[in-house]
Amino acid sequence: MPGIVLVGAQWGDEGKGKITDLIANDFDYVVRYQGGNNAGHTVIANGHKLALHLIPSGIMYPNITPMIGNGCVVDPRILIEEMDKLEAEGFSTERLMLSGNAHLIMPYHLKIDEESERKLGDNLIGTTKRGIGPAYQDKAERSGIRVQDLLDEHIFRLKVETALVEKNEWLTKIYNSAPFTAEAICDEYLPYAQRIKPHIVESSQLLNEALRANKWVLFEGAQGTLLDIDHGTYPFVTSSSCTAGGAAIGSGVGPTAINKVLGIAKAYITRVGSGPFPTELFDETGEKLASVGGEVGVTTGRARRCGWYDAVIVKYAAEVNGLTDLCITKLDVLSCLDTIKVCVAYEHEDKRYTTVPGQQTAFHKATPLYEELPGWKTDITGCTSYKELPREAKDYIEFIEELAGVPVSIIAVGPDRDQTIMRRWKPRS
Ligand code: GDP
Ligand code: IMO
Ligand code: MG
Repeated sequence: MPGIVLVGAQWGDEGKGKITDLIANDFDYVVRYQGGNNAGHTVIANGHKLALHLIPSGIMYPNITPMIGNGCVVDPRILIEEMDKLEAEGFSTERLMLSGNAHLIMPYHLKIDEESERKLGDNLIGTTKRGIGPAYQDKAERSGIRVQDLLDEHIFRLKVETALVEKNEWLTKIYNSAPFTAEAICDEYLPYAQRIKPHIVESSQLLNEALRANKWVLFEGAQGTLLDIDHGTYPFVTSSSCTAGGAAIGSGVGPTAINKVLGIAKAYITRVGSGPFPTELFDETGEKLASVGGEVGVTTGRARRCGWYDAVIVKYAAEVNGLTDLCITKLDVLSCLDTIKVCVAYEHEDKRYTTVPGQQTAFHKATPLYEELPGWKTDITGCTSYKELPREAKDYIEFIEELAGVPVSIIAVGPDRDQTIMRRWKPRS
């Protein structure tokens, strides 16, 4: 049962798209299991740069079947746009599979996302405004509309009409916003059915058959551990289970199908949107990391907040995901610094924490305790093996590895697929 989960170990944007694409060629399926087009995964290979939001990375390989699992929320307009864009760039989307049980993002979800953020004022979450939270809210509340509902015009119309009874009350009375008509929504959404119908499958059944036939399945996580609805910095999180356990729920395979979990972490750390961030930098170093690292959101174009690598967070990610391997990306970005700090613990009210404090207030107010390591100040973007890295870079990796308690199997030294060091990655062992 060769199932491997790839998961973000920080607050998202760790380079999951790049690494998924890099290792995908060993797999038969690449499956997105949660989230929606709040994700922005960058893949750069053979001179092609793709920014993927819903379609799994790995689409560039003709031998891979990409799948959007039941745990995802799908905006059909965005899905079709993404398929068209890929086709125009010469990548076939014919093999794309979409779970009929995934939930649809509806126009009112986008509006509610926008308006509820506005209502929160200074306390806003800083969402991507893609309707993610409101769509998952309806799923949990059991008023959601699923991909398969698009296949039955009568059912779809009925569900939209039923949903609008409450949504319109909410929109007009709480948000002072215009109501939606079922007619307009159906006119927009029903034609989407024609386009996506050939892709709708019983994904859980298909994946289980594939696993029984010894096919290889890669589960591509979106967002990151600290954005997980249960294990993240709630309420400054997304609304899905981004951690490795979510792969089973969001695709319909048993947890026993998963035999490796690869965590992706940046050599420093970034966050988009609001919420606590103990190692955040507000100085020149932060600005340097942002500019050298090109830290701008792929989905919203927002500037990413930057900070020092936080070993407490990655150790926490190792635990909640059961990481078997770690991949450190963007090591090359640190080449611009004389010395590099790593947060090894926090302090709050005379108490030292080497794990994420259970109480949110302590995490919000935690003072990071750092160890400072020498930099290497050399261009490492051409290094293709571990031994080619400068001693200081190796020391940095080995320090991180020791603190995480998980082997660093892959190291990325540039955005291109080829700019990667496969140190210990053995998917088939
Ligand atoms: P994801 O959401 O986890 O897939 O990450 P994003 O694609 O949102 O952000 C990662 C950014 O870093 C993208 O622009 C990548 O092309 C880039 N990137 C990935 N790995 C490396 C690396 O090792 N070095 C550099 N310089 N850039 C990288
Ligand atoms: P990838 O897969 C970074 C953040 C948003 C916001 C919070 C909630 O590219 O790593 P949402 O729209 O999901 O309700 O927003 O989560 N967020 C991400 N941050 N990378 C992402 O995806 C993100 N997806 C959501 O900025 O703080
Ligand atoms: Mg991203």
